[in-house]
Amino acid sequence: MQFNSRGYPFHRGRRLRSSKSLRDLVAESFLKIDDLVMPYFVREKNDEALIKKMPGIRRFSESELIHELGEISKLGIKAISLFPKIPDEKKTHDACESYNENNLVCRLLKKISKEFPDLITICDVALDAYTETGHDGITNSKGKIENDRTIKILEKMSLNFVHNGCKVIAPSDMMDGRIKIIRESLEKNGFFDTCILSYSSKFCSNFYSPFRDALGSQKKLRKSNKKTYQIDYRNRRESIKESLEDIHEGADIVMVKPAGYYLDIVRDLKDNCLVPIAAFQVSGEYSMIKNTAEKKIFDYDKIILESLACIKRSGADLIFSYFSKEAVNLLLK
Ligand code: PBG
Repeated sequence: MQFNSRGYPFHRGRRLRSSKSLRDLVAESFLKIDDLVMPYFVREKNDEALIKKMPGIRRFSESELIHELGEISKLGIKAISLFPKIPDEKKTHDACESYNENNLVCRLLKKISKEFPDLITICDVALDAYTETGHDGITNSKGKIENDRTIKILEKMSLNFVHNGCKVIAPSDMMDGRIKIIRESLEKNGFFDTCILSYSSKFCSNFYSPFRDALGSQKKLRKSNKKTYQIDYRNRRESIKESLEDIHEGADIVMVKPAGYYLDIVRDLKDNCLVPIAAFQVSGEYSMIKNTAEKKIFDYDKIILESLACIKRSGADLIFSYFSKEAVNLLLK
């Protein structure tokens, strides 16, 4: 440390922290309403709304969702993502409901594009909501996930979504080569402006478990896991490689998931990729904060903003979070 003639340090870091205005003046990163994506679980009319493991989050019927979107549009939220809970009787070996032109997501997209034409709809493209196994791919007789058969279905599913007005296609399944096949198909069909947000760095994480309950896929998975397609959480370089490949195949945005325990990966992608970086604060991260805050172990509002601001600081350009709506209300305060 350097000292002046009276022995005091020249550098006093606390100077810049001495008032709110100064702290704001020199702040290095900002969480904005425009950065936030609100995920929604959607259901068929007669299915259950309550999600036990995610207090405060529910499954919306079509009409409930349209009403909700009116509310969040007024708040200034510009992007949502959709996750359907498909009834058990429609879950099959070949996931055929996923490419039914009139499935829950397609019906919703049609309504949303009419009522909220400017809202950015981001649709998850993966089969886990539709397979009888709860896996993101089609299984062969030995139980192995078949990559190439699966990506053909993802292609059909994506085209249906886009035909019904989806703005951003978001493959979240970690099959190889899917971005290329979807991009080629979009171009061939004249959808030149459809964005692809690739869940390129999706880790095989235990934090997804409340989400799997919300979709009804947890009980289908039984004791099996997704380790043959999602990334091992011990790896960093692999996630950079996957992201660079997906960008090369035509992805416009890449994503890291989960977010909070994976901020090194967010920074790695920011430093190595020249496209916007998304981060997904997943269901387990939400539930941990929600449950702890409800027990008054810490200040709920402040923890939400800190958890999101730190994801932003680490390099995320956009953030998916089940707290998005609440966070916007806090940011508007
Ligand atoms: C589907 C998918 C998952 C999530 C988003 N898309 C679950 C999984 O891969 O098992 C998790 C989101 C969350 O936990 O909030 N492939």
